[in-house]
Amino acid sequence: VSRPWFAAALRAWYPHHHRDLPWRHTRDPYLIWLSEVILQQTRVKQGLPYYQNFSSTYPSVQALAAAAPDEVLRHWQGLGYYSRARNMHHTAQQVVAEYGGRFPGSYQELLKLRGVGQYTAAAIASFAYDEPVAVLDGNVFRVLARIFGLSQDIAVPASRKVFQQLADELIPADAPAEFNQAIMEFGALQCTPAKPDCLFCPMQAQCFAFQHGMVQELPVKSKA
Ligand code: ADE
Repeated sequence: VSRPWFAAALRAWYPHHHRDLPWRHTRDPYLIWLSEVILQQTRVKQGLPYYQNFSSTYPSVQALAAAAPDEVLRHWQGLGYYSRARNMHHTAQQVVAEYGGRFPGSYQELLKLRGVGQYTAAAIASFAYDEPVAVLDGNVFRVLARIFGLSQDIAVPASRKVFQQLADELIPADAPAEFNQAIMEFGALQCTPAKPDCLFCPMQAQCFAFQHGMVQELPVKSKA
């Protein structure tokens, strides 16, 4: 499939199919960061009420930084992976102390924050600042592996480069945020792991995996 075709098809699909989620209505890097930390290990449906509650209790990075640690953990109660809440609290204090309460303004600078890895930095940089850096999560690996027929083992760190390069080349300069939301949403709703909706997929005729009967074989992910 040609790259421009894929980017255009994804762009056509997204407006009609995406879920209306609160973090898609903000450009505030703090709120985007909060949503991405929650969604890293939690499903949207379960994370949504926590996002609503947490963001109204702590509407700014200053508010979070000033909170008592046990109070922060109390608002995280039930979500699990409590180190996420502790890391967020620490990072909020770092943003206030070292950056004057303003989130770092680029992908490279965001990476310096505690607990902010490549995925989270790319999500914040693209969604908040429209920086053209592609997000890579399980959804993105799956969509790219299937559509473009990439057979590199996604459990192997070196494969990341291949996917990151392709995704960075695909991302349109005029709409990085939308592209990143769209490719994740396409993976979450259409090109799902177990039973992808190939029958009603607009990419079907161009999809390597569908055309070669390899939808269940891609992406390749070793257990080891
Ligand atoms: N999972 C991770 N990030 C997400 C986002 N921004 N929207 C929906 N699901 C997600």
